[in-house]
Amino acid sequence: MTDPRSLPPFASDNYAPVHPEVLAAVAAANDGYAVAYGDDPWTARLDARVREEFGAGALAFPVLNGTGANVVSLTALSPRWGGVVVSDVAHVNTDENGAPERVGSLKLLACRSTDGRITPDDVARWAGQRDDVHRAHPAVLSLTQSTELGTVYPLEELRALTHVAHDLGMAVHVDGSRLANAAASLGCSLRALTTDAGVDVVSLGAAKNGGMLGEAVLVLGPDDAPDVASARAREAASAAIPFLRKATMQLASKTRFVSAQLLALLGEPGDAGPLWHRNAAQANAMAARLRDGLKDLAPAVRVTRPTEANAVFATMPRAAADRLRAVARFYDWADGEAPDRVEVRLMCAWDTSPETVDAFVAAAADALS
Ligand SMILES: Cc1ncc(COP(=O)(O)O)c(C=O)c1O
Repeated sequence: MTDPRSLPPFASDNYAPVHPEVLAAVAAANDGYAVAYGDDPWTARLDARVREEFGAGALAFPVLNGTGANVVSLTALSPRWGGVVVSDVAHVNTDENGAPERVGSLKLLACRSTDGRITPDDVARWAGQRDDVHRAHPAVLSLTQSTELGTVYPLEELRALTHVAHDLGMAVHVDGSRLANAAASLGCSLRALTTDAGVDVVSLGAAKNGGMLGEAVLVLGPDDAPDVASARAREAASAAIPFLRKATMQLASKTRFVSAQLLALLGEPGDAGPLWHRNAAQANAMAARLRDGLKDLAPAVRVTRPTEANAVFATMPRAAADRLRAVARFYDWADGEAPDRVEVRLMCAWDTSPETVDAFVAAAADALS
């Protein structure tokens, strides 16, 4: 059904259409018969592409969605008595209807975050309960990159976090639903942000980056002398994931069509402008433009979080937000500074245009007047 509102939505990057190059890759994969359940040439090629992109030790396991990628990853990394350290606003903690707990039997150990980020000290605080049989053993650190609040862990911070976690014998998982946006924001490769930063397992997003459906769990393997605890965790995860993926209903019979999408996003080796980067850079640039436009509407509008990827958070009068919602869809995120104000979340996607952003800012100015 077409939305009667005059502007495209800022509600979620999931609302965006599929990028034509991804659709073309799916159509090209629709070429006769292929062995089902991932034993096909597209998935074999994806495995090879992931090794080129993320390092020689990497393995790719395509799955159906981001929640599934997280549940498979975390279940593979955590022993039965383990706990997963996460931020209080982590998608796994707040927006997966308890799937990690219900499906994975996982215990989540939440840390208070600032703008979606947690610190090495937050992780180190769990050290005390490592040997206490009455408490869940902190076994995994799960970070979201970019975070649920549109911020990004810089490489140094990420390395400090993985060091602390590994020192405590924890494996490190990254919910990379928007990993592309983080890499584009930092101007680094996907490898620099994961394998080289000491990350063990990644939920690699595609849907928010121009994909249709499907994501992948990546088990990584750094080339240099690996930390023993994380090497063991990765080995165990690689052995468990094929079984867990099936048991958690994340193994698609026609996996080739998921792999074809991921291949289209990753592009060919040496590609100066792979699709993942083009799409993420566009979404990030539009978020920066939107933030700047909204800042001009201060003090009625107040940008509340650093805009480091493709999300903008701002508070505004509730009445103005409701008027603006008639023009473009978006979600309320939290209460504002006063009862008559609300914090809204505005997401940009790969196809958000400067004209759409400028029209939205003009509509916001109208809604305030
Ligand atoms: C940070 C993050 N992780 C995971 C997911 C889950 O993805 P899916 O809806 O495909 O299960 C989302 C979806 O919005 C997300 O924002």
